[in-house]
Amino acid sequence: MKVLIIGATSAIAKAAARIYAQQNCSLHLIARNGEQLEALSSDLLVRGAQAVSSSVLDLNKFAEHGKLLGAAIEELGGVDIALICHGSLPDQEKVEISFKQAQKEINTNGLSVISLLTELAPTFIEQHSGTLAVITSVAGDRGRQPNFVYGAAKSLVSTYLQGLRGKLLAHNVHVVDIRPGLVDSPMTAQFPKGPLWASPEQVAQKIVKSIQRGSHTVYAPGYWRAIMFVVRIIPDFIFKRLKF
Ligand SMILES: NC(=O)c1ccc[n+]([C@@H]2O[C@H](COP(=O)([O-])OP(=O)(O)OC[C@H]3O[C@@H](n4cnc5c(N)ncnc54)[C@H](OP(=O)(O)O)[C@@H]3O)[C@@H](O)[C@H]2O)c1
Repeated sequence: MKVLIIGATSAIAKAAARIYAQQNCSLHLIARNGEQLEALSSDLLVRGAQAVSSSVLDLNKFAEHGKLLGAAIEELGGVDIALICHGSLPDQEKVEISFKQAQKEINTNGLSVISLLTELAPTFIEQHSGTLAVITSVAGDRGRQPNFVYGAAKSLVSTYLQGLRGKLLAHNVHVVDIRPGLVDSPMTAQFPKGPLWASPEQVAQKIVKSIQRGSHTVYAPGYWRAIMFVVRIIPDFIFKRLKF
């Protein structure tokens, strides 16, 4: 199987890449840190990957997406799975008083993903097969006070994926929206951890299984589906008073 991983140096992406390497897949990795990409590529080859190639790009350079993806897929020799993983968790207090900062975060977490999907979709349509999988977040399920800029960007992507899934159905292309809850990764290094936290490896296992099964909207770990159901049904007059 040929797997393209975008934002490949994320902790969750690395864990997913290791599973695909063990399954003897061929991988193309895209991230902005060349040194980390090289180290990851060597590690994946040792773990059993059939072939590993990579490209370096700051994914906020939207204009370069088309060319980069074309070259990546050519190097991979086709693509069965494209997994989009990059993201950044902003300081809500900073981004809510600076549109410039908010825009950067919305670009990273929202618009860059839509640009990548726009460039990837025609390849999948043409080959009439494959899976587009994207890591969004439970934060996109409802705008909460501590992270509503990040949540809004993730929600933009989730809504886009819902429509894209329908559009690509006739072309035999599957679309998976992966919504992790709290994951112990560099993104959340500053937060105290508790019983609801999962490891990147747990989330990666769920991602790989969900892609294999053809799932649609996936909460990772699964208990977040119940938690977010409750969060979504809290009436606005109560919800607006909640600080979590
Ligand atoms: N951790 C959580 O609790 C949690 C919860 C829900 C959803 N998620 C989502 O899960 C995904 C993976 O996050 P993670 O937990 O694995 O965190 P992570 O290890 O911090 O990974 C984030 C990755 O995004 C990359 N990135 C950020 N901006 C980029 C840009 N402009 N161009 C290229 N790469 C960029 C980072 O690259 P550098 O290393 O070069 O900075 C890093 O590899 C993200 O989409 C995140 O929003 C995480």
